[in-house]
Amino acid sequence: MLARVLSMRRGAHTEEEDELDEHSQDDSKTRKHLSIATRITNYFTRTGYLCPTIITAIIILIITSYFLQSRDLLCVSSISSFDRLSRTRFFGLDGLDSDFGALGVPWYLCRSKHGKTVEWTTKDLLQGLEEFVPIYETRPIKNNMYGMGFDHSFGLWFITRWLKPDLMIESGAFKGHSTWVLRQAMPNTRIISITPRHPEKYLKKGAAYVDGNCTYFAGKDFVDFGSIDWSTVMKKHGVSDLSRVLIFFDDHQSELKRLKQALKAGFTNLVFEDNYDTGTGDHYSLRQICDQFYIQGGGHSCFEDSDEARVRSVRKKFWEKAVDTQELCGPGESWWGVRGYMRDDFNHTNKPISYSQHFQNSRYVESILDLYWELPPVAGPSLTHQTRYDPARAPSPIVEDGRFRLFQRLGLSRLEPSVFNGYTQMVYVQISDKES
Ligand SMILES: C[S@@+](CC[C@H](N)C(=O)[O-])C[C@H]1O[C@@H](n2cnc3c(N)ncnc32)[C@H](O)[C@@H]1O
Repeated sequence: MLARVLSMRRGAHTEEEDELDEHSQDDSKTRKHLSIATRITNYFTRTGYLCPTIITAIIILIITSYFLQSRDLLCVSSISSFDRLSRTRFFGLDGLDSDFGALGVPWYLCRSKHGKTVEWTTKDLLQGLEEFVPIYETRPIKNNMYGMGFDHSFGLWFITRWLKPDLMIESGAFKGHSTWVLRQAMPNTRIISITPRHPEKYLKKGAAYVDGNCTYFAGKDFVDFGSIDWSTVMKKHGVSDLSRVLIFFDDHQSELKRLKQALKAGFTNLVFEDNYDTGTGDHYSLRQICDQFYIQGGGHSCFEDSDEARVRSVRKKFWEKAVDTQELCGPGESWWGVRGYMRDDFNHTNKPISYSQHFQNSRYVESILDLYWELPPVAGPSLTHQTRYDPARAPSPIVEDGRFRLFQRLGLSRLEPSVFNGYTQMVYVQISDKES
């Protein structure tokens, strides 16, 4: 799949470039440059100065690039704010997502049982983006602080529309933005929304979304996902094939707990909104669980003088969500979960776990995972100007850094930069019993 996605990515790149080339006026410019260059070369060739001139030019180039590089390195120690320009200059466009050494993340952090991959390609995601941007612009809740931003709204819409479920269940609705996203993906399909406070309550204060084709387990009817009698509810909703149901969790509960509850009820298709990286977040996530030494980019060092510690302390200067080794590690060099703790329920409850428990959790998760797909960020940070998540800990973006024309063509440049700040590695998983 990696090779497939990479090749698709290159394919999409070339196609897009071809398209841009078609519309660009640069053809004549190139010809003009070539003729000037040819004239200069002809002059030096005629006068016999060609070789010394080339050698001098190369020497000047090497000296200049050396001074530019060392100037950027010196700047790093004096950076005190999240300065976008410095960030881009220090990491360079190519280095934004790949300069994290051993900490870089592989495409699939969690291993699935048989290595199954998603059907969609980067090209599908790009097409989806083009379609989704105008839809997103009509959202009823313009400022969804504490809820989903653009990246995850797109991810949820894309996955839902691709899977075309017979029923959608969401746990954690807040003002109803995610309910609205599900509705955009499937205009006529029933939704079940589980959330302690009914979204209609927010209508009194401002924008909210209440869906007309939705069963709400909210307010006085609220029951936690894990306590619902799902066989009765499914019968009531006329659903017999649970593989046709999509569950969306945005309730900040331990994802290990939710995985076990969903499996027990017989559900197979799940999306987790906040798939927090190790050392961050208010609940134990799949990403944290699968972060193990045997995974490329997984497992961590608490040694203060390690390469990892050095890289982390630099990255922390640039990205708000990046954590340095001091934050990452709790007592006894416990780096897993959040400082050795398994958090749950918005961190209202948490408990310390040993490394061996953490390791067992990952073995369990891998034994029931049929598929694990992390949504990439929609676009690179030099395009979105997001300053929160560290791109080194995220998959390569759908629209890569430097591709401003594509970013613009997809309509992404019309959106407020703040809508790109909420990315936390949303993940789509398929699960089934160990035996299958
Ligand atoms: C981050 S917000 C959800 C944001 C929403 N999905 C959106 O995109 O705007 C988390 C929500 O989970 C709700 N919540 C808290 N405990 C919950 C539980 N046990 N089950 C379901 N929802 C819960 C909170 O009340 C809150 O509305």
